[in-house]
Amino acid sequence: MSHPDRFLLAGVMGWPIMHSRSPKLHGYWLDHYGLAGAYVPLAIKAEGLEAALRALPALGFAGCNLTIPHKEAALRIVDEASPLARRIGAVNCIVVRADGSLEGRNYDAFGFTESLRERAPDLRFDAGPAVVIGAGGASRAILAGLMDEGVPEIRLINRSPARAQALAAEFGAPVRAVPWEAKAQALEGAAILVNTTSQGMVGEAPLDLALDALPVSALVVDIVYAPLETPLLAAARARGNRVVDGLGMLLHQARPAFEAWFGIDPKVTPELRALIEATL
Ligand SMILES: NC(=O)c1ccc[n+]([C@@H]2O[C@H](COP(=O)([O-])OP(=O)(O)OC[C@H]3O[C@@H](n4cnc5c(N)ncnc54)[C@H](OP(=O)(O)O)[C@@H]3O)[C@@H](O)[C@H]2O)c1
Repeated sequence: MSHPDRFLLAGVMGWPIMHSRSPKLHGYWLDHYGLAGAYVPLAIKAEGLEAALRALPALGFAGCNLTIPHKEAALRIVDEASPLARRIGAVNCIVVRADGSLEGRNYDAFGFTESLRERAPDLRFDAGPAVVIGAGGASRAILAGLMDEGVPEIRLINRSPARAQALAAEFGAPVRAVPWEAKAQALEGAAILVNTTSQGMVGEAPLDLALDALPVSALVVDIVYAPLETPLLAAARARGNRVVDGLGMLLHQARPAFEAWFGIDPKVTPELRALIEATL
């Protein structure tokens, strides 16, 4: 389906922005579905965010994604935010409505849970406790996602304990803060382990976590995607755990955004995954 009378536009605002894989991802879908349009990287500094967002309707943009450092600030600018975006405290997708107003949404939780569904189709979220390492921005989306899927207990562990305690108090049950020193023991009986810290990323030290207490039946997830196999995933795979890398979260969060802007629910295919993998 093409729109000969209209050139479709969307993009991603961030600073820096040229590292973003989103233009390649959405560009692939625009091409694949035969849509005349473009998805562009928009280099926007923090002080320019509001003016840039307000310009979207005049420029004919269907909307945009937001990345570092704009996700929290955008929540304060949009005319309306979805309940989930408010709960997470961040917006990663903006939809320009017919009247030119801006609606903020957050698809990071969806991206996370869909990537687990894709890579571990038989996973039962209610099978047992989850251990989440890290209490930053990404952790907030993952906590919301796990809670909404019915995970019965979430043990939240962060290097700076006050941050985990504050987050556990804000989200409430089933999220419970566990001290950093107790992280190895906290793996006992867990069904899912998720790393949401930046540890294990290219240029960063590996996550310091002994896996001995983790059941071999547990699913181990790292949302870091560069490298695709972090030291945590390599160690988990070596002892027999199933693992899920961070690329699926990135790919799947883009689906509902593309659909909201352009009316097609696009597919995450092995070809698309390979295309983005080649850029890592
Ligand atoms: N796959 C995806 O689609 C996706 C989406 C979003 C983010 N991510 C990735 O997720 C990671 C976190 O992103 P974010 O936005 O949540 O960042 P953030 O808000 O800056 O949070 C960083 C987290 O990492 C922890 N951390 C940093 N250095 C540490 C260290 N040396 N030892 C232990 N913990 C450490 C921080 O703990 P403190 O509170 O103690 O500082 C905090 O919990 C990044 O690698 C990012 O690329 C992936």
